[in-house]
Amino acid sequence: AMVDKAGFKHFMAKEIAEQPVVLQGALSHYINAEATAVTMPDPEIDFAQVERMTMVACGTAFYACLVAKYWFEQIAGIPVEVDVASEFRYREPPVTKGTVALFISQSGETADTLAALRYMQGKADKIMSVVNVPESSIARESDMPLPILAGTEIGVASTKAFTCQLTTLAILALRAAQMRGRINDAELAEKLAALRSLPGLLNLALGIEDKTKSISRKLAEARDILFLGRGAMYPLALEGALKLKEISYIHAEAYASGELKHGPIALVDKHVPIIVMAPRDSLFDKTVSNMQEVMARGGKVLLITDQKGATEASTGVWETIIMPEVDPFLAPILYAVPAQLLAYHTAVAKGTDVDQPRNLAKSVTVE
Ligand code: G6P
Repeated sequence: AMVDKAGFKHFMAKEIAEQPVVLQGALSHYINAEATAVTMPDPEIDFAQVERMTMVACGTAFYACLVAKYWFEQIAGIPVEVDVASEFRYREPPVTKGTVALFISQSGETADTLAALRYMQGKADKIMSVVNVPESSIARESDMPLPILAGTEIGVASTKAFTCQLTTLAILALRAAQMRGRINDAELAEKLAALRSLPGLLNLALGIEDKTKSISRKLAEARDILFLGRGAMYPLALEGALKLKEISYIHAEAYASGELKHGPIALVDKHVPIIVMAPRDSLFDKTVSNMQEVMARGGKVLLITDQKGATEASTGVWETIIMPEVDPFLAPILYAVPAQLLAYHTAVAKGTDVDQPRNLAKSVTVE
């Protein structure tokens, strides 16, 4: 069926807004009705036997890999290596026994990702994929393709596919942790309940739209923008910078907060907005001290945090966006919303072609 904009000005706006609904679909696909168990396609991979995972993708899907690395390492205790497909495929990486390869792709047709998958055929114990198009090449050539059920995504800048990829990966990490005896049934049920609360939280998070619109009008005047984050918020900072440069054409860079003093702090002056993604989690104080370092040098900080974080740390910041409180495990999924909305409204303020940005393609099927 033809997909239309359903009254939205752009497909990207529609796809951002429909995230609570599509995510609900992905959740009920992988979690049983009682929210006590994960259901994966048969035959399942026995994660108790897995010694390491290699995750490979391009673009936004690569940032989903980076978030998944934190989850699989911290929750399931599996060492994870992550690479962009264009580097991985030519590096001839050695593959040891017990390796599961996982490829993430919205389209399932990205040339470099498909080539990386074919390199792993016959080398990895199993090939998994996380895809939006179930009949795609990457899905067909994997031992275990996991659909993300985001529905057709038309905007070149990926939005709902990213949050559905993350949701699928979070559920898979929990299943792996369960198989490896790292979490008990009660802990699993608690995390699954947290996942099930995501559609409601995403709806609440979408309530920041007016605020992001007014901030974006000011961001539209910047030449350079920095994004900072720590832990699993670092890949979200990368995703925020990617979205912004893709559609608003403003130069944006992301750094792990702790790396700030090793270079990017030299760029900071009163003209450079610095977007700090920092839910009030165990790393919050560290990120706040990095934030104070840029403020001491005249940097204009936009702090994206929850109410607790804002109460503790908003003195001296330029702008604050208050997000709903969320289990720190799931914060990367929720914090995709401000990353998307800031990029979208900055692009709209600049009058760029949001759904078809210059020089970019939705699906890159040539090298
Ligand atoms: C292109 C798109 C990006 C996407 C990337 C990977 O560059 O513009 O939005 O993240 O390809 O695409 P895939 O379909 O493999 O996820």
